[in-house]
Amino acid sequence: MEAVRFLQTLFISALASSLVFASDPSPLQDFCVAISDPNDAVFVNGKVCRDPKLAKADDFFFSGLSIRRNTSNPVGSTVTPVNVAQIPGLNTLGISLVRIDYAPNGGQNPPHTHPRATEILVVLEGILYVGFVTSNPDNRLITKVLNKGDVFVFPVGLVHFQFNVGKSNAVAIAALSSQNPGVITIANAVFGSKPSTNPDVLSKAFKLDREMVKSLQSIF
Ligand SMILES: *[C@@H]1O[C@H](CO)[C@@H](O)[C@H](O)[C@H]1NC(C)=O
Repeated sequence: MEAVRFLQTLFISALASSLVFASDPSPLQDFCVAISDPNDAVFVNGKVCRDPKLAKADDFFFSGLSIRRNTSNPVGSTVTPVNVAQIPGLNTLGISLVRIDYAPNGGQNPPHTHPRATEILVVLEGILYVGFVTSNPDNRLITKVLNKGDVFVFPVGLVHFQFNVGKSNAVAIAALSSQNPGVITIANAVFGSKPSTNPDVLSKAFKLDREMVKSLQSIF
């Protein structure tokens, strides 16, 4: 009898433990190097919290996403982020927002990835050709032309882009599943790293001659 009860308890606790998280929570920054003296700490996973009794409406508020942004820059787009850096109340909540303005005739949000977030984008104005590429080995390109009111999803971590194929300005709003999604713009990370990546590495990786690599590095 005692043995049966023991087995029942064992079974129930095994079931319960299978329902809890099986891994660490997702990191909210690129890395978090451990230290031994907490007085030297910069932040925890995310940011440290204010006493909830002292929270105020402005901790959860941002204004200005109706403002059209200047897209006179080399890529022809401007991203206005609304994440935990702008709204401290987003800390630990796993969500954020951006507004993206695109110049007419080819303004683009160049190929990039968000290491910590899936993105869902809605077009408010204009026509966007958008796409993402699946991971290795397939690297399949999945694209769509979006009009006003259309919605598209960019799965977490995948390289994606938006390109204004219309003759007028385009505007989109996107929600991201992290308080701090992070952005890696592929061309900038590869050709614009500081300090520069050894051109021999990039020459072989991109099948480009060394002078072309150095020229690209000087541009970025
Ligand atoms: C937009 O930005 C460009 C480049 O910085 C600048 O020359 C131009 O005056 C700006 N336009 C407006 C309307 O602010």
